[in-house]
Amino acid sequence: PATSAAPSPKATPTLPDAQVVTSVKHWTDRLFSFRVSRPQSLRFRSGEFVMIGLMGDPDPKTGRQKPLLRAYSIASPSWDEELEFYSIKVQDGPLTSRLQHIQPGDELILRPKPVGTLVHDALLPGKRLWLFATGTGIAPFASLIRDPETFENYDQIILTHTCRDVAELDYGRELVDSLRSDEMMQELLGDGLDKLTYYPTTTREESPRMGRITDLLRNGTVFADLGIDSISAETDRAMVCGSMGLNTDIKEILEGYGLREGANSDPAEYVVEKAFVG
Ligand code: A2P
Repeated sequence: PATSAAPSPKATPTLPDAQVVTSVKHWTDRLFSFRVSRPQSLRFRSGEFVMIGLMGDPDPKTGRQKPLLRAYSIASPSWDEELEFYSIKVQDGPLTSRLQHIQPGDELILRPKPVGTLVHDALLPGKRLWLFATGTGIAPFASLIRDPETFENYDQIILTHTCRDVAELDYGRELVDSLRSDEMMQELLGDGLDKLTYYPTTTREESPRMGRITDLLRNGTVFADLGIDSISAETDRAMVCGSMGLNTDIKEILEGYGLREGANSDPAEYVVEKAFVG
């Protein structure tokens, strides 16, 4: 006798390039992260981004629906079975006003074409890697600090994260804590787990370290705190991901130390990418 079960409706993607949401976590009223299934054929380099989104509303005249897509850095490492994203919620944002309501089991569109410059290939070899993030700009670094290659390539990794409020640091802080307590990672993090230095700062709420990272670099606070003499083009490499303002200001600071901007086709001492906002 035939025992064929009817396929579940969820097994058949209804959207082009559909992936299924597996979990969602709301960090603050402005920030959330979510995980989705990973297309089997998707290969990416830690630090890259893809276009993701939802189907837009039907056109009032034609009734046709078009995908509403935005660039999102993949926050999970390249070895992970799923893909993770970290997003802002913009109440009148075309995509994030809707995306913030996704639930496990929902589908979203994911174009499987990863690109980006925050990748190891765009940097020349060095000893110390700085990862400068503001807000959701930490997403590509959440991928990179879970990638063993990052620790194999450098003696020290310094992740700085500047947010307005303390609660906005939680995503990054929890990630760093989870790496430090992960047995697989402990070997990579070195004796004393000090290969990864986490340097969080806030600008609008009291915390142990206050101020924009740019000001703390200019006035030497970062160097004094971390016991580092200076940034040098010989040993230091940097990746920058934040607001336009942060990117422009850090660029100027890094160039002041003699670092040059790199690209996939022309690796150098630092790379920059805008943190994407829905
Ligand atoms: P500030 O509070 O002084 O504006 P946002 O939430 O608006 O994306 O900002 C995230 C963090 O980035 C905030 O702490 C903000 O500080 C900081 N920031 C904004 N512009 C710059 C800049 N040009 N250089 C350094 N930090 C910046």
